[in-house]
Amino acid sequence: MYSLCPKKNMDNFINRDVLLLSISMGFKIILLGPPGSGKGTQAEKLNDDLGLIRLSTGDMLREAVRDKTELGKMAKEYMDKGALVPDNVVIGLMKERITSLKEGFVLDGFPRTVQQADALCEFVDVDHVINLDVDDEELVSRLTARRSCPDCNVVYHLLYKPPMKDDTCDKCGATLYHRSDDTETTVRARLKVYRDSTFPLIEYYEKKGILVNVDGKGNIQEIYEAIEDSL
Ligand code: AP5
Repeated sequence: MYSLCPKKNMDNFINRDVLLLSISMGFKIILLGPPGSGKGTQAEKLNDDLGLIRLSTGDMLREAVRDKTELGKMAKEYMDKGALVPDNVVIGLMKERITSLKEGFVLDGFPRTVQQADALCEFVDVDHVINLDVDDEELVSRLTARRSCPDCNVVYHLLYKPPMKDDTCDKCGATLYHRSDDTETTVRARLKVYRDSTFPLIEYYEKKGILVNVDGKGNIQEIYEAIEDSL
């Protein structure tokens, strides 16, 4: 007698092949969600697993701060307070990166305002917007115990996703650091900025019919599978 499982597995293979084909043809995804909701964590998995290029405005701005460029010096003043860097600066930065890409990509941290979203749709058509939903107290506890890699940008959590060796990145061996905007006071300021400026994007993309809500609490792998299923 035949079991149903092989058929299900075969369907999974076909679905995955279709997914990989779509991605190689240039799938474009936005990860939305408050600070600490897991955008970076899930974007890294989408990159590792499906080859989507991860574009994180936060990582780009932190790199500019480290390199002490003019952009970095200006951005630091906003980032240290948990405020948003001005729209025109971030839009210019992302337009240059996105329009030079032929491959599929995932946006982590952009757009963050309606003005940024309006600008984005003038230079690219996005296929999916995934909104990660997590409550504030969980976000504060995640961010205050986060450790980040300055070189490859992988993120860890002291309890939920600890590095194998203390303060050392599993992927590239660099020394991990605690982001200066991950103190409780600045995290709460970032959450307020999120509610005032970024939260309206949920309705913005709902109206376009491309938003999917994913519960961002719980096991990191299960959240990833829910994202993959929604694509
Ligand atoms: P940015 O770096 O984009 O910060 P953010 O949006 O505040 O998001 P985070 O990086 O803090 O969190 P995340 O959602 O990526 O979560 P993560 O996966 O790391 O921006 C920083 C600043 O740059 C902004 O404040 C602003 O000044 C400026 N900026 C950036 N973009 C801008 C824009 N477009 N316009 C204007 N200004 C801009 O996870 C967090 C922690 O939780 C980690 O420790 C992780 O290991 C852990 N974790 C993840 N998932 C789970 C889970 N399921 N369970 C338990 N722990 C988990």
